[in-house]
Amino acid sequence: MKYFISFALVAAAPFAAAQAPVYGQCGGQNWQGATTCVAGSVCTYSNAYYSQCLPGTATTAPSSTSTSSSATSSSTAHTIPFLGGVNTAGYDFSVATDGSFNGTGVDPPVSQYSHFAQEGVNLFRIPFAWQLMSPTLGGTISSTFFARYDATVQAALSSSSGTYVIIDLHNYARWNGAIISQGGPTDAQFASLWSQLAAKYASQPRIIFGIMNEPHDIPSLSTWAQSVQAAVTAIRAAGATTQYLLLPGSSYSSAATLPTEAGPYLLNVTDPVGGTSKLIFDVHKYLDSDNSGTHSECVTNNVDVLTTLVTWLKSNGNRQALLSETGGGNVASCETDLAQELAYLKSNSDNLVGFSIWSAGAFDSTYILSVVPNADGSDQPLWTTAVKPYLP
Ligand SMILES: *[C@@H]1O[C@H](CO)[C@@H](O)[C@H](O)[C@H]1NC(C)=O
Ligand SMILES: *[C@@H]1O[C@H](CO)[C@@H](O)[C@H](O)[C@H]1NC(C)=O
Repeated sequence: MKYFISFALVAAAPFAAAQAPVYGQCGGQNWQGATTCVAGSVCTYSNAYYSQCLPGTATTAPSSTSTSSSATSSSTAHTIPFLGGVNTAGYDFSVATDGSFNGTGVDPPVSQYSHFAQEGVNLFRIPFAWQLMSPTLGGTISSTFFARYDATVQAALSSSSGTYVIIDLHNYARWNGAIISQGGPTDAQFASLWSQLAAKYASQPRIIFGIMNEPHDIPSLSTWAQSVQAAVTAIRAAGATTQYLLLPGSSYSSAATLPTEAGPYLLNVTDPVGGTSKLIFDVHKYLDSDNSGTHSECVTNNVDVLTTLVTWLKSNGNRQALLSETGGGNVASCETDLAQELAYLKSNSDNLVGFSIWSAGAFDSTYILSVVPNADGSDQPLWTTAVKPYLP
C-alpha cells in the first residue's frame, strides 16, 4: 500500500468510440460502449462481465470462452492451491513511498489470524519495514525485531494447517530515499536481508517470500530485474528451496502495467531450483477512480485489466500472478465491484493464484479500507459481502 495518491488513471473506457481499440472492452454485463473492434482485432468473449478486442482475426484469436479453470494439463506444473486472504498491516506503518522510515512498527492483533482462518482464509500477508528488520543496511537482522515479527508469522501459520504467509518487505525498492542498485543499497545488501530471512524459514514450505512491495519510478527496469534475481538467488542459496517467491514489477506493482513495463524483464529471472512454477508475479490493483486505494467508492471491477494480464501470462509460458493488494471502502459500489473482481480471479485460478485484501491488522476501524473485524467479532460489510464468498 502506498500512503498517498501518486499516479493517474491508466486507461479510460472508450464510451464514445465507434470501435473499441486493441485490448479495449467490447462487451460484457452492463457494457454501453463500442461492441466492434478496430481492424486487426476481434471482440473475444472472456466472461459474463467482459469481452475484449484482441489482436488477430476470429479464427486465430486466443480462445478464452470458458470462465472456469482449465482442467486440461498445461506445460507448467502448478501445484499451488488457490489462496485467499488478507493483509495484516502494522510493521510497515510510516514507511514512506521513498523508502524512509522512523517508526517502531505496530503488532497486528494475533486474534485476527484465527478469526479469518475460521472463515476459510488460507493466506496472510505481513508487511514490515526494512529498517526495522535490519537497522544497519546490509547488516545482521535485529534479533529483537525478528522475534517480534516471527511470533506474528507463527500465529498466522498455525491458524490452519494449510495457511500460507507472505513475508512482505514493504520498502518500494528503496532505503531512505534511494533505489536498490540505482543510487541506493547494493544488490548484495538487498540479498543479505533475504538470505538471512530465507535461512530462518528454510524448513517452512508455507512461507512465501514477497521480495519487494510496490517498486515505483525505477529508472532502469533491466537493472531492477537483476536486483530481483539477486534476491531470488540468495533465498535459494540459503536453503529455502521449496517456497514460492513473489516477483515485484513497477508502477507500485501495477497489475495493469506488468505486461508492458517490468514483465518482459522479469520473465528473464531464473530460479536456481529450476523451472518457473515457483516464481509468481506480485501484482496490486485497487478499484477507485485513480487506482490509489485512497477513496471509499469503487469505479471498476478490474476485469479488463486482469483479462489482459491473464492473456499475457498464458502467452508467456503459462505463468502465474498473485493479487497481493486489492480492496475498497465499505460501500455498495465496492461490494459490487470487488465481488466481480474476485469472482473473475477465482475462475482464472490457473493463472491468478490468489489474493489478499488491503487491509486488516493494526488499522483503526475508521481507516477507509479497513476490513479489521469489529470488537464483537462481526466483519466489515465489504468482507462479508464481497470477500467471504470467494475465499478458497
Ligand atoms: C522522519 O523524521 C523526519 C524528522 O523528524 C521527518 O522529516 C520525516 O518526514 C520522517 N519520515 C517518515 C517516513 O516518517
Ligand atoms: C531476456 O533474455 C533474452 C535472452 O537472453 C534476451 O534476448 C531478451 O532481450 C531479454 N529481455 C529483456 C526484456 O531484457
